[in-house]
Amino acid sequence: MVSKKALKNSILQDPRATDFVANPYLRYSQWHSLDAPVFWENYGFWCLLNFDAVSGTLRDRRFARLPPAGHELAPPPPHLQEFAKAERYSLLAMEPPAHTQLRKLVNKAFVSRQIDAMEPFIKQIAHSSIDHFEGTGAVELLEHYATPLPLRVITRVLGIPEEAGPQLLAWSHAMVKVYTMTQSFEDEITANTAAAEFYAFLEDMIASKRRNPDDGLLSHMITARDETQSISDDEIICVSILLLNAGHEATVHQLGNMTATLLTHYAGERRALLLDALKDEVTADAIVAESLRFAAPLHLFTRYAQEDLTLGGDVHIAKGDQIGLLLAAANRCPKKFSEANTFMPERPDSAHLSLGAGLHYCIGALLSKMELRIATQVLFQRLPELMLADEPQFQDTYHFHGLQSLHVKWSLL
Ligand code: HEM
Repeated sequence: MVSKKALKNSILQDPRATDFVANPYLRYSQWHSLDAPVFWENYGFWCLLNFDAVSGTLRDRRFARLPPAGHELAPPPPHLQEFAKAERYSLLAMEPPAHTQLRKLVNKAFVSRQIDAMEPFIKQIAHSSIDHFEGTGAVELLEHYATPLPLRVITRVLGIPEEAGPQLLAWSHAMVKVYTMTQSFEDEITANTAAAEFYAFLEDMIASKRRNPDDGLLSHMITARDETQSISDDEIICVSILLLNAGHEATVHQLGNMTATLLTHYAGERRALLLDALKDEVTADAIVAESLRFAAPLHLFTRYAQEDLTLGGDVHIAKGDQIGLLLAAANRCPKKFSEANTFMPERPDSAHLSLGAGLHYCIGALLSKMELRIATQVLFQRLPELMLADEPQFQDTYHFHGLQSLHVKWSLL
């Protein structure tokens, strides 16, 4: 099944190795030089990293997030039953036609008109977080700035009381641990319990919104469900958990990655360039886009082949096989980008795949880009001399490529 050329491109890289998670881009550069798909032995599947190949595959209906009929996955083990239940109808676990219907409904809350209306609220959250630590001269930015902002935004979008935030965060952290490949059996039990509690919380929330509807996405989904019977309560719950977990975690990490990148690239005399660029929405958006290309938080997504096919000319993929799409490596593809490893917001060839593409393109794309822009504009407007207090360390997970902590400081004079 595996051709000679393909075998030549087998790679062995523990995705949990400390030096790799700290800087996977060194390895990506080596793999790019092979100019072909690579067989990642630790995962046991072929991976694409060329920009056009990854982009094309995300849009190619011969690949899907689920395996084709006849190649179904093994049922989850008993200790992950509740976790699986909370994921069963998440958009990421669905394909058309069920996916199309649910996505259309959820998307109503994420169109540009709705997102633009959130701008004043996002600004207010950013300012109020900074009010809390501005007088201290130093802060750990992930906990005190990057985490509360997207959490408060997504609870507002869904219509969930803000006071539930800390509990939602605890459930979310417990659940996403299962995607990191670093979890223990105990972590899986904890994730399963978190999923069960999260599910029950949303069941109660749905019952309460049925009695007292409001303008949030949960109420809108319930109305659509009750009027048309087109979706189920299970779908509403699973998609809400996805929005609260994946959307939130990725935005926190990206805000951390982006801030660390900016503090490194615009230190000293270069800071004035950044402050200037952030004043203008167009150049500020370009900084966000380049930071998504340069420092993506989610590096690996997978797809299942829906038929037998060939990749890169001579790699045979059988129906039901899983392949890996290395989004962050594609973002540094030397065939697509000049000086691919240089952070350059003014680059003429700007593009990235950090938010995916095709049917499952990130539904929160507009929202997260606006959150990143406003959070960065407000941060540097309020603390223009912000600097790193120590070297940022990446956490030891490959799938969520984000910082363990981001300690920053500024002068109080
Ligand atoms: C910088 C932050 C974010 C990044 C990097 C990110 C990245 C992604 C990527 C790569 C996908 C596609 C996955 C695939 O094709 O297999 C995706 C899908 C998705 N994202 Fe995001 N995301 C972010 C923020 C958000 C936010 C804020 C929300 C919601 C509020 C959100 C909700 C979703 C949902 C629901 C999907 C599934 C869409 C579908 O299957 O149709 N994301 N995201």
